[in-house]
Amino acid sequence: MCGIVGYIGPREASEVVIGGLQRLEYRGYDSAGIAVYDPEAGLQLRRSVGKLGSLVARVAREPAQGHLGIGHTRWATHGGVTEENAHPHRDASGAIVVIQNGIVENYLELKARLAAEGYSFQSQTDTEVIAHLVGHYYRLEGGLEPAMRRALAELRGGNAVVAICAHEPGHLVAARLGNAGGVVLGLGQGETFVASDVPAILDHTRDLVFLEDRELAVVSAAGARISTLAGEPVSRAPVSIPWDPVAAAKGDYKHFMQKEIHEQPRALMDVLRGRIDQDGGQVHLEDLRLDDAALRRVERIYAVACGTAWHAALLAKFMVEGLARVRVEVDYASEFRYRQPVLGADALLLAITQSGETVDTLAAMEEARAQGVPSVAIVNAIGSQAARVADAGPVYLHAGPEIGVASTKAFTSMLVASYLLALRLGQARGTLAPAQVREHLQALVELPGKAALVIERATPLCEELAERYHRASDALFLGRQFNYPIALEGALKLKEISYIHAEGYPAGEMKHGPIALIDEAMPVVCIAPRDGIYEKMLSNIEQVRARHGQVIAVGTEGDELLAAKADHVIVVPATLPLLQPVLTAIPLQIFAYAMALRRGCDVDQPRNLAKSVTVE
Ligand code: AGP
Repeated sequence: MCGIVGYIGPREASEVVIGGLQRLEYRGYDSAGIAVYDPEAGLQLRRSVGKLGSLVARVAREPAQGHLGIGHTRWATHGGVTEENAHPHRDASGAIVVIQNGIVENYLELKARLAAEGYSFQSQTDTEVIAHLVGHYYRLEGGLEPAMRRALAELRGGNAVVAICAHEPGHLVAARLGNAGGVVLGLGQGETFVASDVPAILDHTRDLVFLEDRELAVVSAAGARISTLAGEPVSRAPVSIPWDPVAAAKGDYKHFMQKEIHEQPRALMDVLRGRIDQDGGQVHLEDLRLDDAALRRVERIYAVACGTAWHAALLAKFMVEGLARVRVEVDYASEFRYRQPVLGADALLLAITQSGETVDTLAAMEEARAQGVPSVAIVNAIGSQAARVADAGPVYLHAGPEIGVASTKAFTSMLVASYLLALRLGQARGTLAPAQVREHLQALVELPGKAALVIERATPLCEELAERYHRASDALFLGRQFNYPIALEGALKLKEISYIHAEGYPAGEMKHGPIALIDEAMPVVCIAPRDGIYEKMLSNIEQVRARHGQVIAVGTEGDELLAAKADHVIVVPATLPLLQPVLTAIPLQIFAYAMALRRGCDVDQPRNLAKSVTVE
């Protein structure tokens, strides 16, 4: 959840580190801090509560010069949002500073042991425990690298840790334990970068090296020496990431979320690019390491994800069962990993994750591996942990960096990627003839243009709706069958950025409880495209109207009947029923964005949230 940046090289470390933190601010932002070493000025610490801007102002008032530095933006786990709890944290000698992402599950036990040895603590964080433990072993071992090895060997839990030492200004030491936020090294010309995520480094280099679990790197301006925590040398070639820095910037848009909503037509093209053969009626998933025979053996798929990605998993079930006739079970990853699932033979785990770093989703993949079940990951972040550990390969979204906390382009791309996987499975298992695949592919290639139309038409109407409904304290989203997950997604979008309490429900469930909530103050969003259960949705809309609920319908263009029954209608072009959710999701993203803006909320950095949930 936190952002980590380190630098060593000829430039001013404070500028490079703060610039990198600004690229990572979406990861978590309760407080921030940097530590910079200079031979004259020594180790300079600057920390501040609040968003990164307050640290920038602090450093402007009290510059920190030097060419070795680390920095951190914090999403509080242990201890309140105070300057004392902000990273970096010093050891007792003051010569070592540490930053961390993750949770030290045994920090209280370690803290008690250190306190008994006379160490005193300034903060409530688990990070300060790491700092003192490293300092303790530094006195015994006489070096930062061996001290980090010994200290980190005692930690339990997923952690990314970076440390510098005033006595050793020629390098910094970084390490990764478990699946907490990654550690990526950027290899520049005469300078080296460390970060928890790729966007912090892209402005400087695209040659990246990703640390794996229980690996440590000694990072100097000349490069990095990697080894296992136990000390075994590791040789790992850098990968070149095709994301350009501009893609990770806001451009002319007001918010990253707005930019990413508008990027969806291109993203929907990019997730298809190179994977469909319309003439031959074939789908190719270049990174999928399962051939037709392996795909034919799959008898059951477990789809696991969190949040918005879980809504995509619900739709992946419809797609795979509908097109390939393979049974799919859907689980929240955080539930799957603890329910002692019996996966059985001929199973496949489908992990869906934008960041590829969500700790619960990664743990679900580990659970599958422990039972000998391969996993495939539908993932956006190139080189992320999920992409690397998926033994059946990643299916990349190719959506480019998604910075806004509220997932938009990644979600609709997940739906298309799931559809492609379903087609690939159906192709291998013979449930789909090439002629049928061609029909699906035709609908897929028309989606980007249709998405662009939706964005253009829905934006002004959603702004009007936000003007009218932004004071609502509650909202209900109703959908059926393929659009029930979209009702859930629309509710999540609204609640996470506008803080309105919103719930998504299967429309058929309305009479079993939620109908009691409906009154004239409540906007009820009903997703009612012309599909097989359209008539049922119409009667739900009438039931809402009979109780003076305000109905905002999302329907198919040209549907006069719906227009007569709903208070407002946002229209989307028609497409195949299983692809319709790709289009019905977009107006709900725009509606949530407009409502949050009208309420003066921080759209890209909503309170309490972070883009990548790397702690449980
Ligand atoms: C979605 O808008 C939220 N940001 C959140 O629910 C997100 O989908 C969830 O944390 C999963 O993230 P992932 O796709 O990176 O695994």
